[in-house]
Amino acid sequence: MIHMLAAALNDPDAWLRVAARLHPVVVHFPIALLLTAAGVELWRIARRGVTPATTALTCCGLAVPAAAAAAVAGWLHADLESHAKTLGPAMELHRWVAIGASVAALIAWWLGLIARTPANLRARRWWVFVLFVSAGGMGASGHLGGSMVWGDGYILKPLFGAAPAKEAVPRPMRLAPAGTILTVRYADQISPIFERRCVECHNASKLKGGLRLDLLAAAFDVEQDLWAILPGDPDGSELVARIAPDAGNKERMPPKGERLTAEEISLIRTWIQEGAWEGTEGQTPPAESPSTSPSPRAATPQGPDEVRATAAWSEAEQAAIAAVRAAGGRAEPVALGDERLDINLSVGAPTDETLAAMHAVEGRIAQLNLAGSRVSESAVLGLISNCVALRVLDVSRTSCGDATAAAAAKLPVLERANFFGCSLTDEGLRGLARLKWIGVAATGVTPAAADQLRAKGVRVETGSER
Ligand code: HEC
Repeated sequence: MIHMLAAALNDPDAWLRVAARLHPVVVHFPIALLLTAAGVELWRIARRGVTPATTALTCCGLAVPAAAAAAVAGWLHADLESHAKTLGPAMELHRWVAIGASVAALIAWWLGLIARTPANLRARRWWVFVLFVSAGGMGASGHLGGSMVWGDGYILKPLFGAAPAKEAVPRPMRLAPAGTILTVRYADQISPIFERRCVECHNASKLKGGLRLDLLAAAFDVEQDLWAILPGDPDGSELVARIAPDAGNKERMPPKGERLTAEEISLIRTWIQEGAWEGTEGQTPPAESPSTSPSPRAATPQGPDEVRATAAWSEAEQAAIAAVRAAGGRAEPVALGDERLDINLSVGAPTDETLAAMHAVEGRIAQLNLAGSRVSESAVLGLISNCVALRVLDVSRTSCGDATAAAAAKLPVLERANFFGCSLTDEGLRGLARLKWIGVAATGVTPAAADQLRAKGVRVETGSER
């Protein structure tokens, strides 16, 4: 403890920070002094005094150094505390109104001195005017500063209740170019997590850390190097670091209560990996509430085994699906209205040609079952290397092995892979540490290698567990 204190005392940066953090305390002096000066002067005018009130002049004079101290502390505060930079225009307004009011205080004081000896009515009028401008400006700036910390309209909030913040400018949605395959949907899977766990503190009126999560576009309204979400880079995203299970108690988000579940974290990671989009262009935006008209796609009845010819499926994609069916396999949307596919070729007799014909839908395949099929490993590699949406892969009892494992290791959202009866070895297994579940029964994988992966939290099924 003593040690820490000593270290802190020797750290000039720490001192600077403490001085800066006094800003919210120091600002009360110039505000109070100027308001007092204005009040006293008003009384003096009512009493028909011809010269400035001595008390008013003294208060105004004291307000000048107080304002300068507050300004210096404020400037340091904004520079040292990273969240202040995210406030942008609100901060600029606060800063410049305060500086204007401070300069006005200095001018008022000088005018007041002139107006006093001998009585100078013209200077007196200017003194009153500039003093009131200064007091008003300082009060307004203080209010702006308070609003940045406590939220818009914080003084009157108890009177009017917490009315939902209105969006002045509707912001465009962040939409991926048409045709981009998104396996995680912001509206259905991410926004509900934010709403439930984050929005109470990260909204328009309660901008904790300068971050808004109620409206996705607003999270990107700040300078790019302050983005908490870096599209395509979950590991570099501050938001991911804050929700990670190993985030320290000081950084963790949400600050209190249950942490996010592993599944929620993985959804958010995948969503960021895919570009942190709200949806894709051309797709009907999600209905605001159940009462507004449902999207036409969802309204179209779709049989479970039928992929309808909607605008979302091109002719080439339809042909690919037809090839799967021609080989006796099944191709179904993973859910009603979903654009991702569950392809099961284990029930048919696919050939390498079948796999080659599937390239048009490779980006849409979420589940691929090739179990027991007589396809070559090179054909499997040719297909799966581009299956960026693949979550579940089953190559049991095929000629696949380490090369397939190496390709699978590169798939961004793959969670489960079954290599049962394949020529997989420890070498291939090692690359799959990011998966949730791997089936390695009847392969060349050694129990020691399986245990190594289990130690990293992967469920490895060797077939000898039971
Ligand atoms: C109880 C209020 C509260 C809740 C709930 C909350 N936060 Fe925060 N958050 C804060 C505060 C206060 C800060 C600023 C202090 C800090 O940086 O630790 C902050 C800062 C952050 C930052 C850093 C912003 C930056 O760029 O510096 C991120 C990212 C963040 N929160 C994400 C989240 C996420 C994601 C959730 C929901 C899973 C969440 N928060 C829930 C209060 C909250």
